[in-house]
Amino acid sequence: MIMSHLSNLTGEITVPGDKSISHRSIMLGALADGITEVTGFLQGADCLSSISCFEKMGIMIENDQKTSTVKIHGNGLRGLKRPSETLDVGNSGTTTRLMSGILAAQNFSSTIDGDSSIRKRPMGRIMTPLSQMGAEFESLENDKCAPFIIHGKKLHGINYESPVASAQVKSAILLAGLFAEGQTTVTEPALSRNHTELMFEEFGVDIRISNSGKTSTVSPASKLSAQHISVPGDISSAAYFICAGLITPNSEITIKNVGINPTRDGILTVCKMMGANISLTNIKNDVGEPVADITVSSSTLHGCVIEGDIIPKLIDEIPIIAVMAAFAEGQTIIKDAQELKVKESNRIDVMSTNLSAMGVDVTPTDDGMIINGGKPLHGATIDSKLDHRIAMSFAIAGGLADGDTDILGAECVNISYPTFYEDLLRLNS
Ligand code: S3P
Repeated sequence: MIMSHLSNLTGEITVPGDKSISHRSIMLGALADGITEVTGFLQGADCLSSISCFEKMGIMIENDQKTSTVKIHGNGLRGLKRPSETLDVGNSGTTTRLMSGILAAQNFSSTIDGDSSIRKRPMGRIMTPLSQMGAEFESLENDKCAPFIIHGKKLHGINYESPVASAQVKSAILLAGLFAEGQTTVTEPALSRNHTELMFEEFGVDIRISNSGKTSTVSPASKLSAQHISVPGDISSAAYFICAGLITPNSEITIKNVGINPTRDGILTVCKMMGANISLTNIKNDVGEPVADITVSSSTLHGCVIEGDIIPKLIDEIPIIAVMAAFAEGQTIIKDAQELKVKESNRIDVMSTNLSAMGVDVTPTDDGMIINGGKPLHGATIDSKLDHRIAMSFAIAGGLADGDTDILGAECVNISYPTFYEDLLRLNS
């Protein structure tokens, strides 16, 4: 797809619902007693994969795609049925890892498989702790990768020190902990997104969090109570408009009703460090997840260093941050972000290759990249590797480059933001 040129981005936009919260609403809704109603549910392919997997386990789910309202008819904590076919997670790492935590405790075996990207992603990181809790895993092709069979077992609680700051790992263990005998504790090296912990509280689960937030302890549950969940706009989707508004001349964009959970707001900190004109209004903290309207306008940005504990708070935004860095004066250094190598694509390689193709001075490193920004970009052919965040990042970079940019596999935005291109072009005057 050839990208349209961008100039004067102006107006208001509401981005689709948060992907992480949408997945969790299906899973906890399925395990609850009663009907969980979810508004603002993300109609992206990843979340639809979570719906179809739980439908295969006997859960009735009504999805009104027009209003993005989903009703999950929960079957209770022990109400999942053995699926008669493979659970197809598509491209979704969140479905794979979180659902594995639940499947590890069932009295049946199930098989998980997904697309070629999922088959390359590391699953040892959940197999290890869930096996320590008593579950059994069988990889069908490559060791510690999908496709794999989970043999559900009676689980017991563990005290797990996770080697990675990963909300998917943490959540898989905590979900398994709902069914385990005794308490289950997870400690992570840096705080990752805490949507599971917050949603556990809403559904009535006994979960305790340490002062640092890095240690969570769940007690076995006897029942979860159905909830009404209002999903805020996804800050990871808002990030494309935040950055586009900052680096496109003569622009001012307001993104309405965006989730600003402090475990997700690293992008806002980075924008401020780079000198952005950015403000938050209508901040509401009254529901489980805080939300705000975010307004940005064209800014003269400068490079910065992004490292340490902020990385998990902006891990999915690094591709668009790298684009922003290419448009900023001076050097931006991104480090401590090895996790980028095991996302939907190897995002260190794919970002560096594609930015270089557009004339950016970028050096990939083992745990991030170094970008010397401020030079004009030229159009190029960009291979998205079917990674939605790469396609969206280069839609912005390409729209601001001299000459044409052709994005291969552009339709993969469907994973997290099906109407991305239309929404972007609507702001383009
Ligand atoms: C997610 C956690 C993150 C993130 C992913 C969604 C979640 O992955 O990259 O897009 O919903 O828990 P990791 O847990 O692998 O860091």
